[in-house]
Formats: sequence, structure tokens, C-alpha cells
Amino acid sequence: MPGHQNCVSVQRVVSLDVERFLSFRAGGLTSNAESFRVGCEDDRVLGRDYWRERLDRDYVVAAVSDNDAWIGIGGFSRLVGHRLMHKGLIWGMFVTEEARGLGAADAIMDALVAHARTHVRQLQLTVMGDNSRAIAFYERHGFRRYGIEPDSVRLGDAYADEALMWRIVGVVDP
Ligand SMILES: CC(C)(COP(=O)(O)OP(=O)(O)OC[C@H]1O[C@@H](n2cnc3c(N)ncnc32)[C@H](O)[C@@H]1OP(=O)(O)O)[C@@H](O)C(=O)NCCC(=O)NCCS
Repeated sequence: MPGHQNCVSVQRVVSLDVERFLSFRAGGLTSNAESFRVGCEDDRVLGRDYWRERLDRDYVVAAVSDNDAWIGIGGFSRLVGHRLMHKGLIWGMFVTEEARGLGAADAIMDALVAHARTHVRQLQLTVMGDNSRAIAFYERHGFRRYGIEPDSVRLGDAYADEALMWRIVGVVDP
């Protein structure tokens, strides 16, 4: 996928990394609370065991800087059931503010798509309707907006729309 030229490495995140993962994710859910459909309180309710199991079941990657610090994360889940298992979900994309625009998000998405391609035919994701930067990023990675869910997310007393996006990744009969 054409994008930024910087070379960023990615590593798979598994259950052993749960503490580091949850702490990094909490940073994103806090600093960019308006960009997510979930909050830190949801992760607390779900608990460590839920996340350990999910990290081993899903495919989650972290982008890593030269000095081994995580600078971004993103996840892929395959939908469950014979009639839905040709589809996958991209979730939890977050890159630290200072690492944005430098290729970390591209490296994460490229890794997720490369993995997805061997498991599913198509990918879907949801993004807050006013998150123009994320939408531009997903469009550059081949996602197309196919709808808007009105009032999808409740934020205090207000409701926000979400954009629904999808793309084919190429496996016809996974
Ligand atoms: C979404 C996110 C992972 C993308 O990573 P990134 O490094 O910022 O992405 P990139 O810089 O590669 O791409 C963003 C694109 O939006 C463009 N852009 C930047 N600011 C923009 C804005 N205000 N409006 C529209 N487009 C914008 C950039 O020019 C770039 O497009 P281009 O490369 O074609 O020029 C990152 O911004 C992030 O973590 N945001 C906060 C959390 C979030 O929104 N997560 C997504 C939840 S669905």
C-alpha cells in the first residue's frame, strides 16, 4: 500500500503482553476519547481474562519505534458463524500523537491486511462520522464508506453518527 516511506516494524501482541497492551490502549481511549466507541471503563468491566483470551484469538499488532517503544496498535477479528466467517473487523486503531503521519498506522494496517488476506474475503470497520483524519487514512487503504449509522454512539447526553466502511482483501473462498 503506498503511503509514508518510513520503515516501522510491527510485532504481534499476545496474552503475555496484556498489561502493556491495556495500558497503551488506555492512553488512546483517554487522549482521543471522542474518536472511540468504547471507553476505559468498558475495558475495566471486560477485565484481564477477556483481553488475554481476545489477544490470543484475534490478530493484534503494535508498531514499535527504534528504541522498542510502542507507538501504535490495531486489531483484526474474524466474525463467527458459517455465514459470516468470510468477514473480518478492523478495530482499536491508535497511534500516539507524535508518531502520526510517519507511517506507523500504515505499517499496522499493512500487517493486519496481510494477515486478513489469508483468513477472510472482506473487512469492515466503524469510525466516528466526524473523524476526517481516520476516514482519510482508511480510504487510502482501500476502505469505502457504505453507510452512516445515525446516533450510533452515546456520548453523555449527546449522540454521534458512525461511518461504516468496508473493503475486499482478495481471498474469494477463505
Ligand atoms: C487514525 C490514525 C490511526 C491514523 O494514523 P495517522 O498516522 O494519523 O494516519 P496518516 O497520517 O497516515 O493518514 C491520515 C490522513 O489524513 C489526512 N489528514 C490529516 N489531518 C486531517 C484532517 N484534519 N482532516 C482530513 N484528513 C486529514 C492526512 O493528510 C493523511 O492523508 P494522506 O496521507 O493521504 O495525506 C491516527 O490518526 C490516530 O490514532 N487517531 C486517534 C485515534 C483514532 O481516531 N483511531 C481510529 C478509531 S476508528
